[in-house]
Amino acid sequence: MAKILVALTDRDDAIKIGNYLEDRGETPYIVTDSSSLLEKVSRGDFSVLILDTDIIPELELNIVKFIKERNTALKVVLVTSREKMDTAIDLARKDSFVYMAKPVNLHELGFFLDKLLRGPGREEARDLPDDYFASRFVGRSEKIRKVMLLAQKVAKSESSILITGETGTGKELISRAIHELSSRANAPFIAVNCAAIPDNLLESELFGYKKGAFTGASADKKGLIELADTGTLFLDEIGDLSLHLQSKLLRVLEYKELRRLGDEAMRKVNIRILAATNQDIPALIREKKFREDLFFRLNVINIHIPPLRERKEDIPFLIRFFIEKYNKQGGRNIVGIDAKARAILMQYDYPGNVREIDNVIQHAFALSSGDIIGVDDLPVHMHNISPYFSLEAHAEGSGQAMKLKPGADPDLILTEVEKRTILKAFARYPQNHTKTARALGISRSTLWRKMKEYGIQADPGTQQKEMPAETKKEKQQPLKK
Ligand SMILES: Nc1ncnc2c1ncn2[C@@H]1O[C@H](COP(=O)(O)OP(=O)(O)OP(=O)(O)O)[C@@H](O)[C@H]1O
Ligand SMILES: [Mg+2]
Repeated sequence: MAKILVALTDRDDAIKIGNYLEDRGETPYIVTDSSSLLEKVSRGDFSVLILDTDIIPELELNIVKFIKERNTALKVVLVTSREKMDTAIDLARKDSFVYMAKPVNLHELGFFLDKLLRGPGREEARDLPDDYFASRFVGRSEKIRKVMLLAQKVAKSESSILITGETGTGKELISRAIHELSSRANAPFIAVNCAAIPDNLLESELFGYKKGAFTGASADKKGLIELADTGTLFLDEIGDLSLHLQSKLLRVLEYKELRRLGDEAMRKVNIRILAATNQDIPALIREKKFREDLFFRLNVINIHIPPLRERKEDIPFLIRFFIEKYNKQGGRNIVGIDAKARAILMQYDYPGNVREIDNVIQHAFALSSGDIIGVDDLPVHMHNISPYFSLEAHAEGSGQAMKLKPGADPDLILTEVEKRTILKAFARYPQNHTKTARALGISRSTLWRKMKEYGIQADPGTQQKEMPAETKKEKQQPLKK
């Protein structure tokens, strides 16, 4: 997470860039005039400065020089109007800055930042999943990073893997990734959903049949297991496999051979099995609905993908990922989401996990007519779920924002909810104000203000940390459309 100073004359543009940087997991600070810029820079340990040439009245070289002298490691991205492009290019050439024309294209900015921030010393350089995973599997939380590293490590082995996790957590996505990274990558990856096909049909689908094996079997047919030969067979919803098919599958795993329905001949097959389930298999074993021996065969390695609500840090990255996906697909140019919508998306529990975020963003794309997603663009059931609303209603002294039952004391209820929520967030991210504030969907300065208001003690060791720029408060206001 890099500290980035955004120095732009246009406040709305600065906020857009600020939101974009937050989505990327960076920490932006915003200034909109030259004196705050100089003050910040002289205090500051920023990694990158995004500098609007218009913020300096006469593009004075000595100001830029002053900035560089103060902080030699600072990387500078010059943002310039067409008219000043020549001067910017001269500057950029002399001091090896990067420059871009106004209005700032966020994709382009992201590209430059990736390059500028990549170098040594970037904190995340350790233990990073390789590019393959990073480009397909979005998320930077410690939990998802562990999943990716484990998947990457075991991909090369031949062992069966059981992938567990709630619906929509990415079990199929990770299975495909494992296949792609395995030595079987050039052979087929065949996915079968055991819950979607009736049992007798599933048997002939999996094992194939000989001509005349049953009415309608008019020719010999290979089953999916044979089709996956030398490759990977992905058995989704394995918990729904009947006991009969469980024993047949166990034979395939043990003897590496199968017999097509109605056939005498045994055929050798060489497959690797990846299985996935969102059910509690040990419970199914206790209920005698799942064979324990098959479970042990499949569960040589277990990869568990935690639900999204246990890794909320991934939410901004997923939002950004889907926004970019649907921008590309629909030729749109949505730049981000406003603060209220963001607060809601951070608070929500996502029973449908990543698939649900995907759906929410699709929904927002369908409804939004501007370039920023707002609360109205979210599904109706999300409109009133965020404690951020109670925070806001309380802060502004307007109980109106929440519909209260007659007789309820708005002050009492709102403050209680708010205080409890803050304490809960702290329990989840002890000693980390940045993460706590992010999980709550508010800025750190708002968090500090609230803590003071409620007499919540700062954790030792975090008090002396610098307050963020005052302008951060502005970021909590919804953006103008
Ligand atoms: N970390 C992720 N990054 C990007 N996309 C993801 C991620 N996790 C899941 N997805 C996407 O979310 C959707 C659901 O993922 P997937 O189908 O793999 O989930 P699943 O665990 O198999 O769900 P189910 O149990 O319902 O079958 C897919 O469109 C997938 O591409
Ligand atoms: Mg699935």
